[in-house]
Amino acid sequence: MDRIRIEGGRRLQGEIPISGAKNAALPLMIASLLSDETLTLRNLPRLADVSLLSRILGNHGVDMAVDGKRPGQNGIQGDTVHYTARTIVDTTAPYEFVSRMRASFWVLGPLLGRCGEAKVSLPGGCAIGTRPVDLHLMGLEALGAEIELEDGYVVARAPNGLIGGRIDFPKVTVGATHNVLMAAVLARGETVIENAAQEPEVRDVADCLVKMGAQIDGIGTSTLTIQGVDRLHGATHCVLPDRIETGTYAMAVAMAGGEVELVGAKTDLLEAAVEVMGEAGVDITATNRGIKVARNGAKIGAVQVSTAPFPGFPTDLQAQLMALMTMADGTSEITETIFENRFMHVQELARLGADIALDGDKATITGVGALKGAQVMATDLRASVSLVIAGLAAEGETVINRVYHLDRGFERIERKLGDCGAEIERISS
Ligand code: UD1
Repeated sequence: MDRIRIEGGRRLQGEIPISGAKNAALPLMIASLLSDETLTLRNLPRLADVSLLSRILGNHGVDMAVDGKRPGQNGIQGDTVHYTARTIVDTTAPYEFVSRMRASFWVLGPLLGRCGEAKVSLPGGCAIGTRPVDLHLMGLEALGAEIELEDGYVVARAPNGLIGGRIDFPKVTVGATHNVLMAAVLARGETVIENAAQEPEVRDVADCLVKMGAQIDGIGTSTLTIQGVDRLHGATHCVLPDRIETGTYAMAVAMAGGEVELVGAKTDLLEAAVEVMGEAGVDITATNRGIKVARNGAKIGAVQVSTAPFPGFPTDLQAQLMALMTMADGTSEITETIFENRFMHVQELARLGADIALDGDKATITGVGALKGAQVMATDLRASVSLVIAGLAAEGETVINRVYHLDRGFERIERKLGDCGAEIERISS
């Protein structure tokens, strides 16, 4: 299994291109199941999760064609891929796929909407808490689906097609919002989703569905109203920039020091994180091409932060912020409100010398000024990257073992950081 070796203490200087958002790319690819015409997606990130989902979609009958590179195009721009689901050849998403990537469970809604049936394995994905799917099922049942659980599979049927309904989610869920939204666009009549997730990736998917002919009101708000249509057509859509990758590199610069322009990033996608980093003393300014992040010698201020659904501070940046706060001048508190058990990075950060006390969903981080390199283990996706950015700031050598999680969500991370002066290499084995 690959490892990443970092020699810490190098300041970061230069620019980092921000890729298309993984969390938008995956549901956008899944949206191709809704039409027999071609959905073209631009700015797709090159990630293990994207490749795995391509295989899953291929299994359902989606044909894929990747655009070749044109002269003048460099390896930094994302891929353009044409997805065509002329006929759905299989409505089953098997365990061996879905257990490896939770988002693939979201094929359930579109398959049900288009074919009136779907059989999808219960999901896996990052080991961060129990992550149930009850709200996905509740939403699809509200659209008239009959759902049974059989041998670890969700078997859903709507023999006469889905019918519009009202769903009021008792908690904000990104995945169930995607799933129900994609089912509702082909249901008969009106669907209202209350307490819908407002994450920019949900908005991006809704915008794409509208380009495909869906009728959706309230995009970007917590109430989505969908008028079902008989069919969707082809469209072209460009995946929005990855706000989590943006925030991660911003925190990397804050930890290691230096000045880096995050090209293609957009501040309005991560205002809460920009505000927290500003409070911590990191300079963040919008530029023509993206965002400039700088910390030149200033101390890092301690902060109190709770994760929350968008527009709050994202849970997907919690581990990275915690890494940053290990170096703060003072004591910080970070409360994780979205996922239970999303603190696997704590014991690994402690191996680098961090002082973190856990009490239920709250972590108290006492700044230690400097971290020291060590061997650490990557656990889930965001925890892994928190160890990378901590390694950049730690004195001496840090080796991060089991980095396959990183490749699921961060495109060419060692190259992007290496190009800015980090001493980082992948050791393949
Ligand atoms: C998505 C993101 C993930 C991010 C998370 C929260 C993708 C591919 N993944 O995950 O990176 O960390 O949103 O922003 O976009 N819940 C239930 N029942 C359900 C569904 C969810 O109780 O049926 C709970 C979850 O356990 C969790 C909370 O709702 O406590 C939010 O989960 P959700 O927003 O659904 O996360 P994902 O869509 O899995």
